[in-house]
Order: sequence, then structure tokens, then C-alpha cells
Amino acid sequence: MDEMKHAEKHISRIIFLEERPVVSELNKIHIGDAVEAFHKNDWEAESGAIIAYNDAIKLAVEVGDNGTREMLESILKDEESHIDWIEAQLAQIKQMGIQVYLSEQIS
Ligand SMILES: [Fe+2]
Repeated sequence: MDEMKHAEKHISRIIFLEERPVVSELNKIHIGDAVEAFHKNDWEAESGAIIAYNDAIKLAVEVGDNGTREMLESILKDEESHIDWIEAQLAQIKQMGIQVYLSEQIS
């Protein structure tokens, strides 16, 4: 849901800037066939997003677009919290093992 809200913010900002958003070209999603792989693939995606948002913020600063910079900074903080959560999940899996981790998720 957070990622969908981010997409809405991007689309609204692009329309505000009187451009046309392109929503037909999406990045490939790698899910994985097990919970740990799912988290690791999600970590890769979030890590890439954090790099991209930092690069975009740098560009927004360079062109003096503070409205876009503020939006990107807000989304960047969300992405940082996402990767923090994923790292906590991976640490729990490492410490307690996947069996206990999974049983904790359903209790
Ligand atoms: Fe995210």
C-alpha cells in the first residue's frame, strides 16, 4: 500500500508539472519462492529505490525544484523504514531460524 501511495504522489507531481506520467513501463518484480528469498529480493528493490531517490533529490536540488525535493525526501524516509523492517526480519530469521520465525508470524 505504501508503494502504491508513492506512485500516486509521483503521478500527481508529474501532472502538476504539466507532464504526462508513463505507467506502462514497470520494473520487473522478483518475489522469490521462499520467505527469506522474498525478504532478500525486497531488500534489493528497496536498496535500489533508496539510491534512486537520493539521486533524484540531488537533481531536484540542482534545478531548484524544492516541491519535488520535499516529496522525494518524504518517500525516501518511507523507503528507509521499509528496508529497516526487512533487515529486522532477516536478522530474526538468522537468529531464530526460519521454522520459529514462520511460527511467530502466524501466532
Ligand atoms: Fe518501499
